[in-house]
Amino acid sequence: MKFANSAKRGGNSILAGKILSEAMPWIKEITGKTIVVKYGGAAMVSEDLRKAVMEDVLMLKMLGVKPVIVHGGGNAISKQMEAEGLEVEFVNGQRVTTEDAMRIVRRVLTGEVNQQLVWEMNQHGNIAVGVSGCDGGVLIAKQKDPALGRIGEVTRVNPGLITDLVEDDYIPVVSTIALGDDGGIFNVNADIAAGHIAGAIGAHKIIFISDVDGIYKDFPDEDSLIANMNIDEARELLNDENISKGMIPKLTSCVHALDEGVPSVQFVNGTTAHALLIELLTDDGIGTLVSNTGDAAEVNHAEVDHFASRLLENKYL
Ligand SMILES: Nc1ncnc2c1ncn2[C@@H]1O[C@H](COP(=O)(O)OP(=O)(O)OP(=O)(O)O)[C@@H](O)[C@H]1O
Ligand SMILES: [Mg+2]
Repeated sequence: MKFANSAKRGGNSILAGKILSEAMPWIKEITGKTIVVKYGGAAMVSEDLRKAVMEDVLMLKMLGVKPVIVHGGGNAISKQMEAEGLEVEFVNGQRVTTEDAMRIVRRVLTGEVNQQLVWEMNQHGNIAVGVSGCDGGVLIAKQKDPALGRIGEVTRVNPGLITDLVEDDYIPVVSTIALGDDGGIFNVNADIAAGHIAGAIGAHKIIFISDVDGIYKDFPDEDSLIANMNIDEARELLNDENISKGMIPKLTSCVHALDEGVPSVQFVNGTTAHALLIELLTDDGIGTLVSNTGDAAEVNHAEVDHFASRLLENKYL
C-alpha cells in the first residue's frame, strides 16, 4: 500500500494539466484532417530526435489526425556515395544524379531510410507503411535537366495508394523516387514532392520539419525569423537572395501547395524535441506559418465547450 501523501502532485503536473487543456481547441482544429509532414535534415540523423518526431506523429494519429510522412535522406545518400567512391556534387541545391548514383539513391532512400522510419514507428503499433513514389505510380516525373542526370520533375501524382492507406488508418511513409516517362526512375526532391502530394490528396496542411526555426528574411539574423506571411509575400521571397540552398525547394513547394488549395504550410525546427506537438497543440506556435491570408490560425474557443459536451455525450465515439 502506498499513501497518497507520498505522491503529492507538484507544480509540474499542474502545468501539465494546463497544457493538456490548452490543447483542446487545437485538437479540435486538426482532428480528422490530413497533414503532410516533410521530414529531413539534421533532425533525421539523430536517433533521439527521430524517435521524438515519430512519437509526435503517432500522438497526432491518436488524436484523429491523418498524417502522411514524406521524407528526405540526403545525408545517408551522400555517405553511401562516398563509401562507393562516387563524387557528391550539387548544382543549385540539386544533387547531380548519374545512373550509378541513382541506384544508390533508390537503395538507400527506399531500402534503408524509409524502412528505418517505418520500423521505428511500428515499434509502437503496426500502423506505418513504407511507400516509394514508384509504388502504385504515386509520383510520375520527367527529366529536369540533362546536366543533373536522373533528377526528376514531377509531372503527375496518382494519389490513390496514399489516400487508400490513409482511409484504412495507416500512416504512409513516402520515399521520393518517381517513375520516369522514359521508363527509368528519377530522384525527386522531397520538399517538392511533399507539395505535389499534399495538393493531390487535398491535405489540410504541410509541415516542413527541418533544422532551422523557420524562414528568416535575412538568414541567419535571429531577429528576422518570420512568424507568418501570406502567399504573395512567400512568392516574392522566392526571388530574394536570402533564400538559398535547401530553403529554395521548400518555399517553392510551399507556394505550389498553397496554389493547389492546401490552406497552410508550416516550417518547424525538428531539432527541438516535440516541435510538432508544440506547433500543433499549444497556443505558442513556433516557426513560420504561410497561408493564403497570412494570418495565424484562429481557434474558436467559444465552440470548444459545445464540442467537449458532444464528446462527453459520446457523440463522436
Ligand atoms: N532564409 C532562410 N531561412 C532559413 N533557412 C535558410 C534560409 N536560406 C537558406 N536556408 C538553409 O536551409 C536549410 C534547410 O534546408 P535543408 O535542405 O538543409 O534541410 P532539409 O530539407 O530538412 O534536409 P535534407 O535536404 O538534408 O533532407 C537551413 O539549414 C538553412 O541553412
Ligand atoms: Mg533539403
